[in-house]
Amino acid sequence: MTANELRQLFINFFIERGHKQIPSASLMPENDPSVLFTTAGMHPLLPYLLGEKHPLGRRLVDFQKCLRTGDIDEVGDASHLTFFEMLGNWSLGDYFKKESIAFSHEFLTQILKIPQERITVTCFAGDQDAPRDNEAADAWRALGYPDERIFFYPKKENWWGLVTGPCGPDTEIFYDNGQPKCGPDCGPACNCGKYLEIWNNVFMQYNKDKEGKYTPLSQQNVDTGMGLERTLCVMNGVASVFETELFQPIIKKIEEMTGTKYAQPNIKAYRIVADHLRASTFILGDDKGIMPSNVDQGYILRRLIRRAYRYLSGLGAPAKAMSAVAQVVVDNYRDVYPELERNREFIIKNLNREEELFGRALDAGMKIATKYLDAATDKKLAAADAFRLYDTYGFPLEFTQELATERGVKVDTDGFHRLYAEHQEKSRAGAENKFKGGLADNSEETTKLHTAAHLLQAALRRVLGDTVFQKGANITAERLRFDFSFDRRMEPAELAQVEQIVNEAIAAGLPVMCEEMTVADAKAAGAMGVFESKYGELVKVYTIGDYSKEICGGPHAANTADLGKFKIQKEESSAAGVRRIKATIG
Ligand code: ALA
Repeated sequence: MTANELRQLFINFFIERGHKQIPSASLMPENDPSVLFTTAGMHPLLPYLLGEKHPLGRRLVDFQKCLRTGDIDEVGDASHLTFFEMLGNWSLGDYFKKESIAFSHEFLTQILKIPQERITVTCFAGDQDAPRDNEAADAWRALGYPDERIFFYPKKENWWGLVTGPCGPDTEIFYDNGQPKCGPDCGPACNCGKYLEIWNNVFMQYNKDKEGKYTPLSQQNVDTGMGLERTLCVMNGVASVFETELFQPIIKKIEEMTGTKYAQPNIKAYRIVADHLRASTFILGDDKGIMPSNVDQGYILRRLIRRAYRYLSGLGAPAKAMSAVAQVVVDNYRDVYPELERNREFIIKNLNREEELFGRALDAGMKIATKYLDAATDKKLAAADAFRLYDTYGFPLEFTQELATERGVKVDTDGFHRLYAEHQEKSRAGAENKFKGGLADNSEETTKLHTAAHLLQAALRRVLGDTVFQKGANITAERLRFDFSFDRRMEPAELAQVEQIVNEAIAAGLPVMCEEMTVADAKAAGAMGVFESKYGELVKVYTIGDYSKEICGGPHAANTADLGKFKIQKEESSAAGVRRIKATIG
């Protein structure tokens, strides 16, 4: 069975049962500021799980790209991944446990033809917050599952939700490979390899607040997630997810690039490289234009790339091997995720640049790291040493920790975080000084330049494409300085075009409209900006004709006609992958 066949079987099965297909959303969630990445298919559905009406109805199905870093140390075994695809079906206050379990049973045994005796399930055992899930267990029993294949576990295993928000007990479905139990306590929660979790049906009937209190939701939802790679592995009877067609071309490319074989002692390195570069390709390939950096998603991306680079170099790969592997990922997935093809050049450039930035530092850093680790007294690496590796050699903390663990050394991570915070504080103070005289003065001139900044961003995106995002701005009464993601010098013709678009908008005398709305509505209206507000909180959205719609605090000019003539004075590099424009009006 191919991945495509599995995706289609799943989607069709649920469409035939009244579900509507929704597209795979971005890997960077927009409705949930509490996480950096979409870790499950339910992220894009958060407002609807909480009761908002979904335009497509109460039964939905999709396949969704997901990324989780919690299991990063497990990558290398047969089934753990950072990036993966989740097949999911939802009931938004429609069917509940019995129907959901019946759908899963039917899909697994009738469509995928997995023998029923190979399926083992788990249910929630109950505690002070919610009762034992006999309803789910009874639904399994009614379908012919004997009690010895229905396990009950506490919250730790059988409850699903994000930090806060919709959550509830779940029933997890495992494929039992038939090998003998490893001991009397062996069960689905055991990691001996007998049981592989392939599907999770969550019964979202509670809302968890910041204090950890659970209250019943207004509607009873079902949120399920089936692991595409794992299920494919089961369907094809292969030993690990890396033996599926989703990874084999990547592995072949690594063999070709390094002249080594995917065999011991290289298997773990191959799997880490394949997983991390697939994940990095998907992050870079998302239309959001995330690039390696030291914060947020960019930091995770950097960690993945640098870790992949370390293992790939260890296999003897030549320069630019990472981007060569990424090209295979793009080729492999472009029909399903066309954004990868759209962003192919961006992916390649960023991987090559990160290799350049880190490649030189890696050897020198490894020497220093070895020296520090050898000298570590009491098997503890001092915070200052870990920070120096970070600051001077670009070693992410987790990278240093991994090197340390390999030698049985512990890193003073608390100390590291303290040093990091001090360092941040220093650079923030520096930045604030630099930004003095910025928008804070709210004079008429700065207000107009602020409106010009919105028009500038809109024009840049029209001319240079959707990967352009504002990275920073500094406004004085005299001029606007605007930083944006873009990785080459702009051509004079492009600058002229941008200038022309902004001046067109000014000449059109457009009113600058401000509306207050929820983040979800702002998002739905196509507003740009940082979707960081708490769910339900109101934000201001400024609209300028068809040119621009941005979430922003203001203030702004009332009409573009107030701005006068817009002129770009300078375009230059600001940082790696970030350009800077200085412009004036008048
Ligand atoms: N949201 C559930 C999970 O990720 C289905 O396991």
